[in-house]
Amino acid sequence: MLETIKKTADYLRNEIGDVPNTAIILGTGLGELANEINDKKEIPYPEIPNFPVSTVEGHSGKLIIGTLGGKKVIAMQGRFHYYEGYNMKEVTFPIRVFQALGVEYLFVSNAAGGMNSSFNVGDIMLIEDHINLFPEHPLHGKNHEELGTRFPDMSEAYDKNLRLMAMEIADEKNIKLQHGVYIGLTGPTFETPAEYNWLRIIGGDAVGMSTVPEVIVANHAKIKVLAFSIITDLGVIGKIVEVSHEEVQKAAKIAQPKMAEIMREIMQRLETRD
Ligand code: HPA
Repeated sequence: MLETIKKTADYLRNEIGDVPNTAIILGTGLGELANEINDKKEIPYPEIPNFPVSTVEGHSGKLIIGTLGGKKVIAMQGRFHYYEGYNMKEVTFPIRVFQALGVEYLFVSNAAGGMNSSFNVGDIMLIEDHINLFPEHPLHGKNHEELGTRFPDMSEAYDKNLRLMAMEIADEKNIKLQHGVYIGLTGPTFETPAEYNWLRIIGGDAVGMSTVPEVIVANHAKIKVLAFSIITDLGVIGKIVEVSHEEVQKAAKIAQPKMAEIMREIMQRLETRD
């Protein structure tokens, strides 16, 4: 595993030279941010040694390396979901490669169903914490001390300073930010009303099918995380309607420009080695 990570990191270092210290997973709600990355170099996933192979034809995804808000970034357009059949080591492999490259910050976005009754479709939720309901843990198995400690602390999985910075920016730009706990589970089914209700009772404000594995590995790797959910549908009793992937995409589009604005501004203010 260590050798595989190193080989991929060496390949990328060779391709991109100076390695950015911020990585972005362009999940739902951040896709268009890719258009704002300047001076970019794109590397399709199939060209990257050891990167998982996409299960969806024509949607292989790519790494985009360039500048955003004047700082260098490495962005993933397309992520690997557990429901697609990847195991957790594959889902989180890119994070290990970022770690090997010396990445310090990881920004993530996702689409999620809102269980908090004060949420509306199109809201952006700053993730403060998470609950992991995936059936497989990304750190299951032998621990490599070079990668991180056996029992990682998760008391501040989402970096407090980055969250404060995001709140400050949202405030200045008059962007309403919700806050809450994200529950990550496997999908691919959306939840039944009884499941949404249970997820609310156990402490969730939003639920989705990604992010938690990557965030766990980033914490193991001591990479600081900032993550947002776009609320694309509501799992609130009395407001639950039929959900489809298309509607999730459509709702995410509403929040897209606001997410991009926050992200661009954070990049500008971030203190990096660059
Ligand atoms: N549940 C799980 N994943 C999701 C949802 C949801 O309601 N909305 C968008 N992704």
